[in-house]
Amino acid sequence: MAKHKQIAASSMLDRVLVLEMVRVTEAAAIAASELIGRGDEKTADAAAVAAMREAFNDLEIDGTVVIGEGERDEAPMLYIGEKVGGAPGRGPKIDIALDPLEGTTITAKAGPNALAVLAAAENGCLLNAPDVYMEKLAVGPGYPEGIIDLARSPTENIRAIAAAKGVKPNEIIACVLDRPRHDKLIAELRSIGCGIMLIPDGDVAGVIATTNPETTIDVYMGSGGAPEGVLACAALRCVGGQFKGRLLFRNEDERARARKWGIQDLDRIYDLNDLAKGDCIFAATGVTDGSLLAGVKRRRDGKMTTESVVMRASSGTVRWVKGEHRIKG
Ligand code: FBP
Repeated sequence: MAKHKQIAASSMLDRVLVLEMVRVTEAAAIAASELIGRGDEKTADAAAVAAMREAFNDLEIDGTVVIGEGERDEAPMLYIGEKVGGAPGRGPKIDIALDPLEGTTITAKAGPNALAVLAAAENGCLLNAPDVYMEKLAVGPGYPEGIIDLARSPTENIRAIAAAKGVKPNEIIACVLDRPRHDKLIAELRSIGCGIMLIPDGDVAGVIATTNPETTIDVYMGSGGAPEGVLACAALRCVGGQFKGRLLFRNEDERARARKWGIQDLDRIYDLNDLAKGDCIFAATGVTDGSLLAGVKRRRDGKMTTESVVMRASSGTVRWVKGEHRIKG
């Protein structure tokens, strides 16, 4: 029997067709888009998951899901540890963090910024983040290293960012998830006159928005999902920016989950490179219109359009991909 030689780790991402990753996020976004505004989070998510999984299996990779839809007993597809790709044992061995539908509620309510998103990296380069909350602090590129610090108060961080930007603290705009748990943070930011863009969901887009001056967002603050933190870090590794994260545990079960994934120091403050290191690829396709990408649009001529972005950390290349697809009847 012919033996296939598995591709060396160092060259594996070269062998992964970066643009092929866009096909995967496009497939998930298109599937989810059929459920936009239908008030049904679960069906929208399930459609995106099934489409993403199928698209992965067309790729010549030996992939392992390290961040996915949950643990094996919780998720039927794209669970953590699931093998994906059409070349097990012979294709490049890569780890994949994914969220086929980041913003299930947004999609159900036809709100802004729902994305299909994934990150791919060499084996062991993406943190196996448990599905718990993470306190997040992020700025885009151009600031001195160490400008943000989770050990400092929100006020101190805003002052440091404002000083580096050469503006007053009341000219800084922070993006924060609109949640009651952020009431104290919001009150503190308002007390120093800081502008706050409250988002209903979707903190992957919220963190990435700090890298785009057109959004006017200077800093992302507050807690959201830890898996989403890893995905956002993969994007920041490609386009620049700084990130600090700390896992937040609500009970012993969540602490046990973290230990199960090999996390020993539960109070650790993570940096960008702790969450996504080495070379990595980040890809996303818009499901609904947002600050990063336009959503899927169906046209009267039987076609639909998608907008995606795919980036690579080692080269810093960012490609914006507009797709036109025939609507399958
Ligand atoms: P889903 O797509 O899983 O619904 O996640 C949306 C999201 O807003 C994330 O972007 C964010 O990290 C997380 O939920 C915040 O969690 P919560 O809704 O519990 O505050």
